[in-house]
Amino acid sequence: MPQWVEGKIAENIHWTDNLFTLKIDADIDKFAAGQFTSVALDIDGERIARPYSFLNSPDQRPLEFFFYTAIEGKLSNALIKLKVGDSVWIKKQANGFFVLNEIPPCKDIWMLGTGTGIAPYLSILNAPAVWERFEKVVLIQAVRTQADLRYQELITNLENRFEDQFFFQAFVSRENIEGTFHGRITASLEDQSLEKHLGLDLNVENSHIMLCGNPEMVKDSVEILKRRGFSKHRRRKPGQITVENYW
Ligand SMILES: Cc1cc2nc3c(=O)[nH]c(=O)nc-3n(C[C@H](O)[C@H](O)[C@H](O)COP(=O)(O)OP(=O)(O)OC[C@H]3O[C@@H](n4cnc5c(N)ncnc54)[C@H](O)[C@@H]3O)c2cc1C
Ligand SMILES: NC(=O)c1ccc[n+]([C@@H]2O[C@H](COP(=O)([O-])OP(=O)(O)OC[C@H]3O[C@@H](n4cnc5c(N)ncnc54)[C@H](OP(=O)(O)O)[C@@H]3O)[C@@H](O)[C@H]2O)c1
Repeated sequence: MPQWVEGKIAENIHWTDNLFTLKIDADIDKFAAGQFTSVALDIDGERIARPYSFLNSPDQRPLEFFFYTAIEGKLSNALIKLKVGDSVWIKKQANGFFVLNEIPPCKDIWMLGTGTGIAPYLSILNAPAVWERFEKVVLIQAVRTQADLRYQELITNLENRFEDQFFFQAFVSRENIEGTFHGRITASLEDQSLEKHLGLDLNVENSHIMLCGNPEMVKDSVEILKRRGFSKHRRRKPGQITVENYW
């Protein structure tokens, strides 16, 4: 049985009609950057819980989560209506293996995310370990429209702090936006245009790739990367790909 802690909404930021951030005060156990927890509400007498990745790093408070409302989604459509001071349930203990400690030794780390799948990466990037460990840190944020492209200030701040080490590229698939890649991550993995644009090598010897968000993006990217010689990482059989599917 999960142990639930009552959290209080500190802020609810509506970025668009269906994209929002909740900041929550709650006394939970220590977690590792990249992990997720369960957030829950009691709806019609039933506790409805879903997993959500922490966006804040382990030392930052309040807790922060980045949400889309799924179409007819039971919990996300209730969470978006919460007001400052409202209660929400959070699981005391975090879960998940989408963390740096699970990544085998390598030189460069590539973090590819769609939609709210950027969250675990921002948690990792706001903690010191990633900068101490990797030569190059690459973050790819892929969204449908420019309005979905959030947390740019935080990312620009990282670009300024880690100028020679950090590489960021946004993808906007359904609009032509200057400075972003038009289309999908998968197309640019296939034709290697992303690597060429960044001036970096993505290869089996030096790189580890994290994929997070839309399960179709994860599946299709893994297929393309397998054709390029990469394999999924397992504790017993090390590889270069680590994934987190959001649904
Ligand atoms: C490890 C993990 C971490 C996650 N972290 C986040 C996060 O940080 N932010 C976030 O917004 N979501 C995250 N999710 C998804 C989240 O747990 C819920 O699935 C989502 O909020 C929908 O819940 P719901 O009750 O509103 O919809 P439901 O009533 O459960 O589902 C409605 C339908 O929408 C589809 N669906 C579910 N999630 C999504 C989605 N994100 N986008 C599109 N369609 C979806 C499902 O196929 C489902 O049939 C994560 C999932 C996992 C497994
Ligand atoms: N974002 C919105 O404006 C919006 C609006 C209404 C509802 N929603 C709800 O929110 C959910 C999550 O939104 P989301 O924007 O994160 O959706 P998403 O469908 O996961 O799109 C995010 C990005 O991933 C890309 N993508 C999708 N499938 C892919 C694949 N197989 N390979 C490579 N890239 C792929 C999309 O490209 P493509 O654009 O080419 O698909 C888009 O650039 C939606 O499924 C929906 O339920 C979102």
